[in-house]
Amino acid sequence: MKVLGIMGSPRVGGNSDILLDKALAGAKEAGAEVEKIILDKKKISGCKDCKKCNETGLCVLKDDMPEIHKKILEADAIIHSVPVYFWSMTSQMKAYLDRWCALFDANWSWQKAYYPKMKGKRIGLITVCGDPNIHTADPIVHSFKSTVEMTKMHWLGEVMTSAIDKGDVIKDEKARKNAFELGKKAATS
Ligand SMILES: Cc1cc2nc3c(=O)[nH]c(=O)nc-3n(C[C@H](O)[C@H](O)[C@H](O)COP(=O)(O)O)c2cc1C
Repeated sequence: MKVLGIMGSPRVGGNSDILLDKALAGAKEAGAEVEKIILDKKKISGCKDCKKCNETGLCVLKDDMPEIHKKILEADAIIHSVPVYFWSMTSQMKAYLDRWCALFDANWSWQKAYYPKMKGKRIGLITVCGDPNIHTADPIVHSFKSTVEMTKMHWLGEVMTSAIDKGDVIKDEKARKNAFELGKKAATS
């Protein structure tokens, strides 16, 4: 059982990072092997829509994403954690998500070779926004949840909270507990 954590904030040790660590601790407690990828430390270019991957399932861009594709395929569950930047996700997370393109064929179905690994893959999401209204992050939830639903993966749910300064979320017991539970669910459901 492998649970992959994808950290989409450039602020290492910040709110998204703290909650993702909590989720991975929950997954570990439930018996999973866990790994965290900090997207800001990787080189991930934007998708070029060159469509070369439609035939091969492999991206032609020479950066760190093909290695991450392998980890996506191997993971049983993936938990993403990202702050709201201008009512949307960070550029790091968006570049990563767009590059999932390589896993699909021309009709947005999984590449045949990947289908057994991707069908039912469990996907969770953590969002943090500065606004006290947690629904500021709804567009991010919509983006991930729609992707999951369109592609027959399994939506684990979302943990949404508000925090502004680096590490503020440490005081948010409810968000930390919910993130831990999300991680446990990722490793067991
Ligand atoms: C460039 C930038 C844009 C932001 N835009 C928003 C926004 O549109 N709405 C919001 O509620 N918070 C916004 N924030 C605040 C962050 O979401 C907030 O500080 C969050 O706690 C950062 O999480 P982190 O510690 O994981 O990086 C923005 C922050 C930055 C740096």
